[in-house]
Amino acid sequence: MSRSVQPPVDKESGAPLATTLFPGEFERGMEPILDAPLSKAIEALVAEWQSASMLIDAGIRPPLNLLLYGAPGTGKTALAKVIADRMGVPLVTARLDGLISSFLGTTARNIANLFEFANRYECILLLDEFDAVAKIRDDPHELGEIKRVVNTLLQCLDDRRDRGFTIAITNHEHLLDAAIWRRFDARVAIPRPGIDSRRQMISRFLNGVAAEEVDIDFLAWLTENKTGAEIETLCNSVKRHLVMNAVGRDSLLEALKVNSLLSADPADSPRQALFVDGAEGLARQLSTDLEIKFTQESLARLFNTTQSTISRWTRK
Ligand SMILES: Nc1ncnc2c1ncn2[C@@H]1O[C@H](COP(=O)(O)OP(=O)(O)O)[C@@H](O)[C@H]1O
Ligand SMILES: [Mg+2]
Repeated sequence: MSRSVQPPVDKESGAPLATTLFPGEFERGMEPILDAPLSKAIEALVAEWQSASMLIDAGIRPPLNLLLYGAPGTGKTALAKVIADRMGVPLVTARLDGLISSFLGTTARNIANLFEFANRYECILLLDEFDAVAKIRDDPHELGEIKRVVNTLLQCLDDRRDRGFTIAITNHEHLLDAAIWRRFDARVAIPRPGIDSRRQMISRFLNGVAAEEVDIDFLAWLTENKTGAEIETLCNSVKRHLVMNAVGRDSLLEALKVNSLLSADPADSPRQALFVDGAEGLARQLSTDLEIKFTQESLARLFNTTQSTISRWTRK
């Protein structure tokens, strides 16, 4: 596929049915950070995809389609771009929510055109917001027409199964029924990042701002159960505060306090709530954390106080 090749458009509105990202157009340095075992699994899949034609020649049918699922903001769309980049093939992206709802009537035709287009070239077809399909299938109020559209889509997916790479993405995997689930040879959950990934993300997102190891540890502690996108937002807010107000070692805690007063929901972020309560309780909590194992020395740095104060706080 060359850059001059345009994806098909809706005949009535002229709106493109997909967008194409070519190798080299991917933003470098923006690869999603994944927990080590997951990262290895993705590497293995990419290696198989790269050797797909060799495997097929040897009579082995490699899995050519992949379902990525997990909470919004965990890096799924970014991961699909990275996979296409590694494979050196264009990524043809269709957002199914838009495709299905906006072109009623001509949709079945549109879907068929989209797949014909993708099948004609070496590329990865990305079906983002894939759960749009399932929502329609299960909705008793949807009429026959739109159900036919979904069936067309599933049929196209089956036809493509041996021909080209397809990645489907959903934030709502529980909406997909067994029949849809089974259509994917590889199904990979993209979870909220673990501690090591959070540390790496924080270092990346805080780039340019002086942060000590204990600051990164503390932010990693604070962002347990947060997604990459949420961690990025928090880091950007901290960065803004630090650039405007950096004065001393207590700037980070101040920045976080401002941020949590402005935007944290204590109900879904108990650690952030604890943090607003005050230094002593927070230091006590940190000193007992089994995952990060803050030392008294590092806590003294974090709270900009002496080790003997920390030791007094944490003894209680
Ligand atoms: N695992 C991650 N590593 C690094 N950045 C991430 C990660 N997850 C999310 N982000 C940040 O959040 C943004 C949105 O992620 P995105 O890929 O759109 O998530 P999803 O498709 O799962 O909703 C990314 O562009 C990136 O800046
Ligand atoms: Mg996405």
